[in-house]
Amino acid sequence: MKTTISVIKADIGSLAGHHIVHPDTMAAANKVLASAKEQGIILDYYITHVGDDLQLIMTHTRGELDTRVHETAWNAFKEAAKIAKDLGLYAAGQDLLSDSFSGNVRGLGPGVAEMEIEERASEPIAIFMADKTEPGAYNLPLYKIFADPFNTPGLVIDPTMHGGFKFEVLDVYQGEAVMLSAPQEIYDLLALIGTPARYVIRRIYRNEDNLLAAVVSIERLNLIAGKYVGKDDPVMIVRLQHGLPALGEVLEAFAFPHLVPGWMRGSHYGPLMPVSQRDAKATRFDGPPRLLGLGFNVKNGRLVGPTDLFDDPAFDETRRLANIVADYMRRHGPFMPHRLEPTEMEYTTLPLILEKLKGRFKKESDVYKAKESIYAKEEGQGHD
Ligand code: F6R
Ligand code: MG
Ligand code: MG
Repeated sequence: MKTTISVIKADIGSLAGHHIVHPDTMAAANKVLASAKEQGIILDYYITHVGDDLQLIMTHTRGELDTRVHETAWNAFKEAAKIAKDLGLYAAGQDLLSDSFSGNVRGLGPGVAEMEIEERASEPIAIFMADKTEPGAYNLPLYKIFADPFNTPGLVIDPTMHGGFKFEVLDVYQGEAVMLSAPQEIYDLLALIGTPARYVIRRIYRNEDNLLAAVVSIERLNLIAGKYVGKDDPVMIVRLQHGLPALGEVLEAFAFPHLVPGWMRGSHYGPLMPVSQRDAKATRFDGPPRLLGLGFNVKNGRLVGPTDLFDDPAFDETRRLANIVADYMRRHGPFMPHRLEPTEMEYTTLPLILEKLKGRFKKESDVYKAKESIYAKEEGQGHD
């Protein structure tokens, strides 16, 4: 039997700003998923949230992009959005870009990470869910986990991992993907994924046997909608242990709170701060960008767990550093490199301002001419 793990998320509205999912909307989604479980559409599920994103973690045997599973998720979001509207929650229904469902949720707004796997005797997995950032935010930690022996000693000393991993990298602008193998092609890989707004790691396979090891959601809402409709806060599924990176090797990559794009108005760089479920809400400057990690075991499609992976003093120093970096970045105010480069900003008044000032920009040569004539006049008046 093959098991599919589907993590599907959407921002359907939240409490007191783009801040936290309301429990009543989670309850509405729960009803839909409970009934889908009863009908045998899904085997098991877990509902959670990070910041303003409602997260549906589901298992089933129907494979990726299955119509009934996606329809279940869509209905759960619709029902949750109805409650959000009734309660007057902020940005109710924000990520549901279409009124009707057509086959699967891709392109309709929600973010999706799915993997179909042959369950190993024990199948430990970690699910990561981030708010106020975008899918490329996982590029750096994924590189460390699956290609950097300074993070993952298993790459050197575990015989099954020693052959390395293949990275499928998507160019989100062209909609084309390329497969690059580590360690052989790490310089080419880094040349691409160092531009995470464009080149996003989508899937990772073990070289030795092509075992699927990690999957990232790759929707970019702003590209889907052709205009800004909310950050595409990304989710990721990573399989662990026994010839794959250990849980601790995976978590170690998040001990460095690297800078990611997103945060306030989707237009600022800020540190990715790993947090517990209790702290999975956006506060300071609508952030800082936060990462929730949940660990499960999957057994015959049953989700055993979760364990709250960053609810741990071992990540206190990471959070402290993240807050220091947040302070440092904030002091730049509206200046780059805190503010994103103009092409990546989700809000910009620049075209309006340029239009307004059009007549007031003078060619440099004209400015000199104007100055020269002022000097000439002044000289004529006898000043030295
Ligand atoms: C970023 C985000 C928030 C909002 C900000 C302004 O992804 O969701 O930072 O951009 O709170 O929101 P509006 O324009 O809805 O008032
Ligand atoms: Mg949002
Ligand atoms: Mg969000």
